[in-house]
Amino acid sequence: RRRGQTEVLLLFQRGSDELFSSVSNSPYIMSTTGQNPLSNGNDSKKFKGDIRGPSVPSRVIHIRKLPSDITEAEVISLGVPFGDVTNLLMLKAKNQAFLEMNSEEAAQNLVGYYSTMVPIIRHHPVYVQFSNHKELKTDNSPNQERAQAALRALSSSHVDTAAVAPSTVLRVVVENLIYPVTLDALCQIFSKFGTVLRIIIFTKNNQFQALLQYPDGASAQAAKLSLDGQNIYNGCCTLRISFSKLTSLNVKYNNEKSRDFTRPDLPTGDSQPTMEHTAMATAFSVYGDVMRVKILFNKKENALVQMSDSTQAQLAMSHLNGQRLHGKPLRITLSKHTSVQLPREGHEDQGLTKDYSNSPLHRFKKPGSKNYSNIFPPSATLHLSNIPPSVVEDDLKMLFASSGAVVKAFKFFQKDHKMALIQVGSVEEAIESLIEFHNHDLGENHHLRVSFSKSSI
Ligand SMILES: *[C@@H]1O[C@H](CO)[C@@H](O)[C@H](O)[C@H]1NC(C)=O
Ligand SMILES: *[C@@H]1O[C@H](CO)[C@@H](O)[C@H](O)[C@H]1NC(C)=O
Repeated sequence: RRRGQTEVLLLFQRGSDELFSSVSNSPYIMSTTGQNPLSNGNDSKKFKGDIRGPSVPSRVIHIRKLPSDITEAEVISLGVPFGDVTNLLMLKAKNQAFLEMNSEEAAQNLVGYYSTMVPIIRHHPVYVQFSNHKELKTDNSPNQERAQAALRALSSSHVDTAAVAPSTVLRVVVENLIYPVTLDALCQIFSKFGTVLRIIIFTKNNQFQALLQYPDGASAQAAKLSLDGQNIYNGCCTLRISFSKLTSLNVKYNNEKSRDFTRPDLPTGDSQPTMEHTAMATAFSVYGDVMRVKILFNKKENALVQMSDSTQAQLAMSHLNGQRLHGKPLRITLSKHTSVQLPREGHEDQGLTKDYSNSPLHRFKKPGSKNYSNIFPPSATLHLSNIPPSVVEDDLKMLFASSGAVVKAFKFFQKDHKMALIQVGSVEEAIESLIEFHNHDLGENHHLRVSFSKSSI
């Protein structure tokens, strides 16, 4: 991980000159110079008339050093990501403008944001600060009519504007993924353009993807403008960036797959749910191919298990209903649902739903395979197969005893030592042992296969 991060940093520095040329024809981009316009003493003196001090908030914003061909719409769009722009006063001769926001909070977000990300309009940084005016009173001069018309145009097309306004959520597809890309590496790259609030990484259609949320549309837009088409590493891991339709990401766990930086208190999503899912999937896999398992949110002791077909569901129910697992009887009924829905993208369900459609646990992929004739009800005697030559009786007895089972008897099949029967203390122990050791890696590319036996030793 550390190595990956270092490489990201180096490449980012190298790529930064290209970033400017690649966006030179766009009307304005945010620069990451980090230069605070208010720290420029020379300018401050010149505009003394309107400066009380940088920290006195007002919903009126004073913008300076605008290019002489600035348009009303361009000035308004500086404010739009932070809230409603309620008034505008253009002072074109002075290369200045005043922008009134609907709330002081919106104005504070705006000034805070542009103090670290100086807005660049046609290659020129413009300076943004609070005005000492508390509201904007405008007259009916011809100049003002244009400003008012621009504002009206913006509010009358409000619905349209909202539809095309840049989302705060970006979808990032990483193409040509030769080196692994971590969540931390993506955060490091994207935080150059604003505070990354939330991020989820996942693989969809065999593509590594991420959804990433900024507090404002301006950051998302700046990141998209600068990073779309760039390589994370030399010659590979190309970023393809688009705006997501999602307005917010719903993150339940802080781990290497998802992170909510506004909620450091979130759990890491311990392995417990996964273990329960796999336990269900393994137990049910004796009687059919398990496709999905969903632990119910409000009733954590309940789960939906989707089998490959209804015959398998019936079979699993008839054999497992009433069997004891971890001291409690399993109660199994047919669900009214015909399938288990996966959570919508961007809406993690705390890992409650797991997909097993490509699981190595499947025993019934090939119709008519001999696995079909080896389906038996749960019993204290287990059938073991796929045992590698190096594994001896004691190894297997020790393995099963290690999970708490009482090993009562053991017998290799006579023909060779690839298969064996093992008898444990109870049917419950046998079910738990099967869950624990079916598909257990015994080395030499051998995964132990465990099923219930019809015979006893
Ligand atoms: C300071 O302001 C004067 C007058 O506007 C200008 O000529 C000069 O270039 C400015 N100096 C700096 C360092 O910005
Ligand atoms: C039979 O079941 C085992 C697991 O016990 C599985 O590994 C194997 O692929 C299955 N065979 C077929 C033909 O489905």
